[in-house]
Amino acid sequence: MQISALLIGNTQVKNNVFLAPMAGYTDYSIRKLQLENGAGLVFTELVSAKGLMYGGSGSKELLYSAGDENETAVQLFGSDPYYMRAAAESEDLAPFKIVDINMGCPVPKVYKNGEGSALLKDILKAEKIVSECVKSGKNITVKIRTGLVKGDDVAVEYAKMAENAGAKLITVHGRVREDYYSGEPDFNAIARAKTAVKIPVIANGGIFTEKDAEEMIDKTGADGVMLARGAIANPFLVSKLCGVKSDYNLKAYILKHLTLMSDRYAPRRAAVEFRKFTPYYFKGMVGVKELKNAINKTESVAEIIQLINQNL
Ligand SMILES: Cc1cc2nc3c(=O)[nH]c(=O)nc-3n(C[C@H](O)[C@H](O)[C@H](O)COP(=O)(O)O)c2cc1C
Repeated sequence: MQISALLIGNTQVKNNVFLAPMAGYTDYSIRKLQLENGAGLVFTELVSAKGLMYGGSGSKELLYSAGDENETAVQLFGSDPYYMRAAAESEDLAPFKIVDINMGCPVPKVYKNGEGSALLKDILKAEKIVSECVKSGKNITVKIRTGLVKGDDVAVEYAKMAENAGAKLITVHGRVREDYYSGEPDFNAIARAKTAVKIPVIANGGIFTEKDAEEMIDKTGADGVMLARGAIANPFLVSKLCGVKSDYNLKAYILKHLTLMSDRYAPRRAAVEFRKFTPYYFKGMVGVKELKNAINKTESVAEIIQLINQNL
């Protein structure tokens, strides 16, 4: 795919290969590694606007970026336009230039509160949220799905709404809410959204290989791609797409991931957080079952490092 710098409002990012927001995965450590591997922009996990305004330490922790704020977008979720704007204007977000609004989360807990993908059935509320957040002076971006149930296609309507309300970029995840994360993305819906607006449109969904990224760009004409599970499963997909030589091989990448987590989290938490990455990191390896079992049993990062050194 064609790699090019992208202007998001008044902020230029070095390329058009983005790391998606992924709750429970794209913490500081993964974002840092993927920036090192060449990503043009990385997104925090979704952060509750209300949680932030009530001073929740969990919400604040998700923002930790250690100097990478210029290449990091904070993703906010919420349904109250005024809380959303207040969060965008808060001291906590002061170092960041790009704020993304989540209009795609399918999880019932979020949806039932009128947040995430529920905003796809209330365009007036969605518009109010974007226009209020724009008043914060941040470069506001919006991440949507193509609708709620099969047959929906709200991407054009929402892309236009976002652009008119002052958003500077839109990401279209080419699936509806009821798809969650499965199935082929709706290339046509993304393509229609792309031609409907002048702001950059980023395509997301089902990119696991370089070929998938090519196909996504060819079929949608999008200005760039956003990688989610593909970047976790293949930590070097971003570097391959960007034509950047990674400083790491798989073992070095995994060890650095553990080190970065240990710098931030208590040892037990780092070990437990690491467990969810093992199905991705060790897929297809010989003896993987024993290795995963051993990692899942221990609460010691030192022991995990030893296991990696013995097995990789
Ligand atoms: C475990 C998990 C957590 C996710 N968390 C978020 C999130 O916090 N915010 C968001 O906008 N999307 C979230 N997503 C959706 C991804 O950003 C992306 O849109 C989706 O996975 C489709 O891309 P993919 O097919 O390349 O994985 C999440 C997806 C997964 C699998």
